[in-house]
Amino acid sequence: MFVTFEGSDGSGKTTQIQMLENYLLNEGQSVLVTREPGGTKIGERIRKVLLDMAHKQMHARTETILFNAARTQLVEQVIRPALLENIFVLCDRFADSTVAYQGYGRKQNIVELERLIEFATGGLRPDLTVYLDLSPEEGLRRKLADHLNRLDVQGLSFYRRVEAGYHQLIEQDPQRWTVIDASRSRDQIHLDIVRALQQKLPALAPN
Ligand SMILES: Nc1ncnc2c1ncn2[C@@H]1O[C@H](COP(=O)(O)OP(=O)(O)OP(=O)(O)O)[C@@H](O)[C@H]1O
Ligand SMILES: [Mg+2]
Repeated sequence: MFVTFEGSDGSGKTTQIQMLENYLLNEGQSVLVTREPGGTKIGERIRKVLLDMAHKQMHARTETILFNAARTQLVEQVIRPALLENIFVLCDRFADSTVAYQGYGRKQNIVELERLIEFATGGLRPDLTVYLDLSPEEGLRRKLADHLNRLDVQGLSFYRRVEAGYHQLIEQDPQRWTVIDASRSRDQIHLDIVRALQQKLPALAPN
């Protein structure tokens, strides 16, 4: 089972992945947690290039290609082998982030991006995508205390386009997505995510 987490910056993806990992381990499942960009030695090096505050000149297409290069490595080196062994894979962001951020946010051609993603992932798609629905303002407020990187410093209109992009993606494929109100407490959000997973995988549901 391949589960990805999407949502605006600071919406609680990393927090909820940790909580879900603990839940699944308690249920006796094998779990692998990974993140984008990164998750492999090559991918983590690409991540450093992407996040570096000194790389102000990076072209939007360079950024897109680097994200997808890291993605290919993650899919082929980590995710596919784990799925073949029936391991639960929880991934912090995946291909939808490219469409939302590089497509809607940076206004690159969505159809071209979809072709690039297909090439990068070899067609691998998540079984379930959790969308943590939180206004960009609230996400940024939560994050202000944390460390900001190059990809965090965009205007609010950029984040509004990203949010609208996510809603388009959800509309196009509602079966794959579960939309969670992320303005609530960590525990309430976690319960909703567990319920969504139990619906996809009845074996997890309590008897
Ligand atoms: N439900 C919640 N209510 C209030 N604060 C929260 C909640 N969940 C997480 N936080 C806090 O908000 C901040 C952002 O959370 P987190 O890092 O999990 O988000 P993220 O989506 O992974 O962010 P990023 O996009 O930067 O990776 C953290 O300081 C975290 O402790
Ligand atoms: Mg995070």
